[in-house]
Amino acid sequence: MTPAGRSRPLRTGRFPVSRDRVITGRHNDGGGLGAAARASPQGRSADVSENRTPSNGSPALDTTVAHNARVWNYWIGGKDNYEVDQRVGEHVAGMFPVIRDVARADRAFLGRAVRWLTAGRGVRQFLDIGTGLPTVDNTHEIAQRIAPDARVVYVDNDPIVLAHARTLLTSTPEGATAYLDADVHDPEVIVERAAETLDLGRPVAVMMLGILNFVLDTDKARDIVRRLMAAVPSGSFLVLTHPTADADLGGEGNAAAMEFWNRNATPPITARSRAEIAAFLEGLDLVEPGLVPCSQWRADGSPAVVPQFGAVAVKP
Ligand SMILES: C[S@@+](CC[C@H](N)C(=O)[O-])C[C@H]1O[C@@H](n2cnc3c(N)ncnc32)[C@H](O)[C@@H]1O
Repeated sequence: MTPAGRSRPLRTGRFPVSRDRVITGRHNDGGGLGAAARASPQGRSADVSENRTPSNGSPALDTTVAHNARVWNYWIGGKDNYEVDQRVGEHVAGMFPVIRDVARADRAFLGRAVRWLTAGRGVRQFLDIGTGLPTVDNTHEIAQRIAPDARVVYVDNDPIVLAHARTLLTSTPEGATAYLDADVHDPEVIVERAAETLDLGRPVAVMMLGILNFVLDTDKARDIVRRLMAAVPSGSFLVLTHPTADADLGGEGNAAAMEFWNRNATPPITARSRAEIAAFLEGLDLVEPGLVPCSQWRADGSPAVVPQFGAVAVKP
């Protein structure tokens, strides 16, 4: 992919035509189921290719193969999904029943993390990579309830998320939101386009919830995090969730479920161990309570453990 080919003119206001890649929303305007890629349970065998946006632009909307953004939407109780997504989602939930709890716990973690960053640490800028389909409480809604001047840039490469992007662009007049149709494998493109909305001289919360699991190569994933965090100043945060097959979090069932996913849905996914996920946070200072099941990060009471780590760390 050529980064230059991915840059399109900024467009404000109305819902975009499909070829636009950046849209902004200042001021309220607004089994046998598909691809046959085979993978090891960790999704790392050579015949599972890394999810990358095609060099000729966004992938077309494909309603015949289950897509992660839509199945995730199904698991959290949304309606923006197709029959194939429901069938795959149900099959995975049959193999790995905790998956719905994982998806809901992940969204609840997002809410707590954004509230804590906005109210507790004064963060006013968010770069939300791997946004997912709009849902009840999106990042800008949570942040702008506390700080109406908060600015949020959303990034995803799924055409269905692009199609729903207008819901993410309902900024307060004081703040701003933008949507980038971009691939996490291109951190410099993301940073360059995000800088049209965010002041990268001031702290930014880089949010990578449930996205690094789609970068199958761990070294590559670490490099992406390093490049993104290098582009933001001291006092910026990394907010992370990531699935695990670690047995102490009840993740053993993830292996078979992800193997099924990688044979029947897209993009291919991988789980990682606590140590591998901790390595993404190297060079940053972990915020209490550290790298924990995301359901338990600054949660009230003692919520059940889920096999999805969550963490917030600050750039020193
Ligand atoms: C599991 S969902 C997580 C959504 C949201 N962050 C959350 O935590 O609820 C992962 C999202 O990452 C997006 N995604 C997957 N691979 C991507 C890539 N290479 N570049 C950009 N986004 C990607 C998917 O389209 C999907 O919307």
